[in-house]
Amino acid sequence: MSLDINASIKAAYEAGLKASGGKNADYIPFLAKVPSDLFGICIVTVDGQCFKVGDTDYQFALESISKVFTLALVMENIGPEGVREKLGDSPTGMPFNSVEAIELNQGKPLSPLVNAGAIAAVSLVPGDSADECWAKILDMQSQFAGRSIALSDEVNVSEQTTNFHNRAIAWLLYSAGTAYSDPMRAVEVYTRQCSTLVDAVDLATMGATLANGGVNPITKKRVIQEGNVAPILAEMMMEGLYTSSGDWAFTTGLPGKSGVGGGLMAVIPGKLAIAAFSPPLDDAGNSVRAQAAIAEAERHLGGNIF
Ligand code: DON
Repeated sequence: MSLDINASIKAAYEAGLKASGGKNADYIPFLAKVPSDLFGICIVTVDGQCFKVGDTDYQFALESISKVFTLALVMENIGPEGVREKLGDSPTGMPFNSVEAIELNQGKPLSPLVNAGAIAAVSLVPGDSADECWAKILDMQSQFAGRSIALSDEVNVSEQTTNFHNRAIAWLLYSAGTAYSDPMRAVEVYTRQCSTLVDAVDLATMGATLANGGVNPITKKRVIQEGNVAPILAEMMMEGLYTSSGDWAFTTGLPGKSGVGGGLMAVIPGKLAIAAFSPPLDDAGNSVRAQAAIAEAERHLGGNIF
């Protein structure tokens, strides 16, 4: 298996280097400044082996990938059926910050992996203050990564001062009764959860915790209940790459989740996770090189779950 993985990660890196086009997200000023040529891939297996190539120690903003871990936290508290009822279980077929998707569903989010559902998810995290709620989210990210994850003040300020569209989404949810805390508190904490920094090794470890039934393969600690893993992976399969989720499922057959920071994490259940990072994004908001690299790794490793 190690020989296969070494060969696969090299082939994935080559395929990623060949993929061109896309551009850094620029609607968040910080992201526009990240060097576009950074590129790294990491694979972590369920038995804790780690394989990496390229810029795997560069720390980038977790962004939307954070939605997976807050979903996990909320699912631990209210169960899969609670998530389904309050945050939805369906793809939207629309961009990640779509207001139309909320309106077409009478103000209820369709998925915890788009902004509306993710802001509603944060509103379900218990806590008397934003900081109490934030501490739980940060702890969940850290448990998945197997180390203390930290907020980047620079990313956070850049996001908090430009997140007007997300504030509008939060008020829309509130008006429909689908925000479960003060909506501005929820959007403020949601923005913090997007502003933590990870490297490709962290991201692969986070994915490998899902691949390993909820137990972090490096720390060996159980992070979430085994029964919550499948519904999280199902959400990732349906909505993890937004409007490209169908394409991604068709091509790779792997649950994945992307972020506008350029990160992409994919899970081969029971085996491993692959994470890749490269800032230039396609029109749907997914890293061009990371998609090409992970698709190539999947072809080599044969991970398509279908
Ligand atoms: O909500 C936002 O605008 C960002 N902080 C996160 C969005 C994101 O990563 C969408 N991704 N592909």
